[in-house]
Amino acid sequence: MGLLDGKKLLVTGVLTDGSIAFHVARLAQEQGAQVVLTSFGRQFRLTQAIARRLPQPAPVVQLDVTDEEDLTALADRVREHVDGLDGVVHSIGFAPQSVMGGNFLAGEWDDVATALRVSAYSLKSLAVAAQPLLGSGSSIVGLTFDARYAWPVYDWMGVAKAAFESTARYLARDLGPEGVRVNLVSAGPIRTTAAKSIPGFEAMEGGWPDRAPLGWDVTDPEPTARAVAALLSDWFPATTGEIVHVDGGVHAMGF
Ligand SMILES: NC(=O)c1ccc[n+]([C@@H]2O[C@H](COP(=O)([O-])OP(=O)(O)OC[C@H]3O[C@@H](n4cnc5c(N)ncnc54)[C@H](O)[C@@H]3O)[C@@H](O)[C@H]2O)c1
Repeated sequence: MGLLDGKKLLVTGVLTDGSIAFHVARLAQEQGAQVVLTSFGRQFRLTQAIARRLPQPAPVVQLDVTDEEDLTALADRVREHVDGLDGVVHSIGFAPQSVMGGNFLAGEWDDVATALRVSAYSLKSLAVAAQPLLGSGSSIVGLTFDARYAWPVYDWMGVAKAAFESTARYLARDLGPEGVRVNLVSAGPIRTTAAKSIPGFEAMEGGWPDRAPLGWDVTDPEPTARAVAALLSDWFPATTGEIVHVDGGVHAMGF
């Protein structure tokens, strides 16, 4: 019996087979779930090609989380493939390079606003767009990078993650009465496309494997994906507004 037997899941954020979301989708299928992916714009065809590398080819629906038409159409687009959802994975992040890489003091509002809209507000947008499909017992899971700290080079993306973590708590408050859980996985650094687009990302991952009591492999998204799968499952029935750290233990150490 699989951890996610019979579950119907919407997974955003599959760009390459290195994306955290790709490994979530793969594990979810291996654990018995039916998966629908989202993608947008020029990335759409790439996601379709990557979707064929999953254990079972998954359909891809159009969703730019900043596009109101896409958000309005999401429920109907998903209904073409499944009759409802038991879980939604938010695996989306973007900030213009001008507001990362040591440019904190030079960051201008328009670029900061883009980072906040795509990386934080989008959790609310996605949750509301998917709400008509979500019944009691369903689960929304997102990915963060510990926003309690100021990290090297993360800059306004770090501020966006702080807003993202707060958004998850407010969603947990407002969707809890409908039986919908909202939780985040706080992952250590993993060399994905989004990570490599942060100028100076090596400064963020630097020393992580040595500081982690359990060690940490920056090339392995599987531990993070497993935690997402667990939070999507029925094994956290009374947990919401939570942040589960999957970082080898770095968050708990003082240096
Ligand atoms: N890689 C890391 O070190 C790390 C660590 C902690 C948390 N995270 C978070 O994990 C999540 C997934 O990132 P990843 O590392 O797998 O990188 P990735 O580049 O593979 O995925 C990022 C995804 O965001 C999507 N996206 C960007 N703008 C979008 C928009 N307007 N609408 C819809 N989708 C959009 C992209 O299509 C892409 O699929 C992000 O939230 C990221 O911040 C990553």
